[in-house]
Amino acid sequence: MWKNLHQIRAFRSGSNDRFSFVTTPIFYVNAAPHIGHLYSAIIADAIHRFNVLTSPAASHLEPPIFSTGTDEHGTKIQLAAQAHAVPVATYCGQISDQYRKLFRNFGVDYTRFIRTTDPDHVSAVQCFWQALERSGSVYSANYAGWYCVPDETFLTDSQLKENDSGVKVSVESGHPVEWTEETNYMFKLNRHQDDVLYWIKHCEDRIVPLKFRKICLDFLQEPLPDISISRPKSRVSWGVEVPSDSTQSVYVWLDALVNYLTVTGFPHIEHQRCWPPTVQVLGKDILKFHGIYWPAFLIAARLEPPKQLLVHSHWTVDNQKMSKSKLNVVDPNERAALYTHEGMRYFLLREGVAHSDGNYSDTKIIRILNAELADTLGNLLSRCCGKALNPEAVVPSFDQETFQELKSLDTTKRLLDLLQALPEKCHLHYREYNFYLVVDSVIQLLHAANGFFEGTTPWTLKKSEDKPRLRTILNITMEVLRQAGIILQPIVPVMSGQLLDKLSVPRKRRLWSDLRVNFAITERSLMGSEAILFRRIVAPKEENVVKKEPKMKKIKQKN
Ligand code: MSP
Repeated sequence: MWKNLHQIRAFRSGSNDRFSFVTTPIFYVNAAPHIGHLYSAIIADAIHRFNVLTSPAASHLEPPIFSTGTDEHGTKIQLAAQAHAVPVATYCGQISDQYRKLFRNFGVDYTRFIRTTDPDHVSAVQCFWQALERSGSVYSANYAGWYCVPDETFLTDSQLKENDSGVKVSVESGHPVEWTEETNYMFKLNRHQDDVLYWIKHCEDRIVPLKFRKICLDFLQEPLPDISISRPKSRVSWGVEVPSDSTQSVYVWLDALVNYLTVTGFPHIEHQRCWPPTVQVLGKDILKFHGIYWPAFLIAARLEPPKQLLVHSHWTVDNQKMSKSKLNVVDPNERAALYTHEGMRYFLLREGVAHSDGNYSDTKIIRILNAELADTLGNLLSRCCGKALNPEAVVPSFDQETFQELKSLDTTKRLLDLLQALPEKCHLHYREYNFYLVVDSVIQLLHAANGFFEGTTPWTLKKSEDKPRLRTILNITMEVLRQAGIILQPIVPVMSGQLLDKLSVPRKRRLWSDLRVNFAITERSLMGSEAILFRRIVAPKEENVVKKEPKMKKIKQKN
């Protein structure tokens, strides 16, 4: 019984909470990436970066793992390659490269990019299959049912409906189904129903947000049917061969899920050092595969299921699902040309919430980026680094006496209170994957800093004798910016890097543990000449925004 296995493992290895192993789903190569795909990857990247930021670089810890990649087998991919008149392997390589490039450009800092066509993955799938067989969870059966090619799955009557044209389709995806009769290998899913239930219930935040945990528990209310885990090779030839039967290919979803094991070196013994994943990120459409099938497969193979699943909702456009036929697919590369890669990362993590769908809108993105990155963060940096107030281009030294005086002002008190509370608040938000609240807290602090700046009118001190006051105001503001830069690293890594570079914060002093409030005692020079973090974007006329390639000019930020 897995319940016992789990206890043995926990006893044997102790908790390894400080090890970080984050995964994204692997992406189908039947079409080019869109912002929804990028979103899954950026969420996982932000979690990975936060884990690195907060974990001490101790030699006894396993290096963190952050895996992503492409899901390349199955009929859907075969058909897409045919439609492009390209050999299937070449086609997979082309789209897989698009994902790799996308992730490089958007700073998705993975440690392994896996392709299901990689040789180590193919052998991991076959070893995993054999482990399932050894556990007595696999049997052969004649299978007849409605099969949905785009979803690569058999559907039961209750999962089907007739669409407006009288065609039988999947209720969930709307994709058409066809009657199929074949010999398949089946997996005894039903046998592991209680174990999956135990796995979910054993830990309050096993599946977050809670609404998705509840959906999984609802699936488990009814007895689970056994599932087919192979397809005749005559129908699905582009796949991994079943080890003991060369007429069958492994079901693409089983093949795909095993990628999470492959990246740890499975089946080699050292894979155990980093198993299981600490958090697996996935979209709501693939919840059943990750929340029910995946733990059941692992338990059958005597492996521990993941510690946590983070499920996110979807991006829609005009509140409609993105789809090629509706011509409303948002291409991240095209948008990055207008708003920058960092701008897109900021927007997706700032506006996206895991529990409900987000609506993509160009008007909204322009408004947010201009108001927050240009006018709030960028402007504050330019003000305190610019020649007007800071001709010597330094982080000026701090004057204790002036500081005491400034502290009596309400605007200073408010700023210092927010500053003190910021690290703990943001730590919690990151741990709960509420990136929008991290950004909210930082922006609130920056507004308070802008208020402090306005209230203390440092520009009136330029020509006066009161240099300690001017120096101290700049010093406090720059400390706020240092904190904002450290905290925002998982969200906008390049921009935060530029901000911290400008403030001459050494690379080794950008960890979470460096967030203690630390007003610089000795003066240090600023780096570089320009301090423009984000240039304002000029919004085109409303009717142009929705066009595929809107023309937008970028103009220089005003200080
Ligand atoms: N290949 C499977 C996953 C196998 S993992 C073992 C798959 N691929 S996918 O390319 O269709 O989707 C990959 C991820 O992108 C999923 O997390 C999915 O939810 C996400 N998104 C696809 N469209 C999306 C939106 N419109 N919005 C947000 N995320 C979406 O499923």
